[in-house]
Amino acid sequence: MSRLRVGVLVSGEGSNLQALLTATRDPMYPARVVVVLANHDCPALERARKAGVTRAVFRLADYPDRKTRDLEMAKSLRFHGVELVVCAGYDAILVPAFTRQFAGRIINIHPSLLPAFSGTMDAVEKALQSGVPETGCTVHIVTDEVDAGPVIAQRRVTIGPDDTVETLRTRIHEEEHILLPVVVRRLAGQVLPLPV
Ligand code: GRF
Repeated sequence: MSRLRVGVLVSGEGSNLQALLTATRDPMYPARVVVVLANHDCPALERARKAGVTRAVFRLADYPDRKTRDLEMAKSLRFHGVELVVCAGYDAILVPAFTRQFAGRIINIHPSLLPAFSGTMDAVEKALQSGVPETGCTVHIVTDEVDAGPVIAQRRVTIGPDDTVETLRTRIHEEEHILLPVVVRRLAGQVLPLPV
């Protein structure tokens, strides 16, 4: 079985990366993580190391500008034959020159039911403050407009009267860890040609 080659971009804890790495332990899972790239040091890199996955850090300070950095990341992904790019807690916006190279083949996981609470790193806090009865998580295609690309799938989380940002974040994370591997599995069943 040929498995979809996935590159993961990370900046944080990497619990979503872990969910994907765990799913790929099943030899029948139709995708595998071939490289993990970060924009700064973060615990996610240690998860990649433990799983024996190639990893690298592309610090902005090491490049003249964001575009140059992002294009070097794109080069690395192409070098590893990446067919699907997963932003799993990646905290920077990718330049259009990057997204063009992987158009339709970059997905992001966001902790809200998009389009609600888009374009913010505080989506969980904002959902709680706003008084909505439910929130959740979304996997969507990355386009040049932040958090606005086509939605692939979502999972819902009910907000209870006793919820705090921490309890809500934990439950959203649990749903994310189910959603992301399911979406990647689904995408692996579709034809995703390598970038030319
Ligand atoms: C997740 O909540 C994701 O939705 C958001 O950043 C968080 C990353 O968590 N984009 P982790 O690094 O995967 O634990």
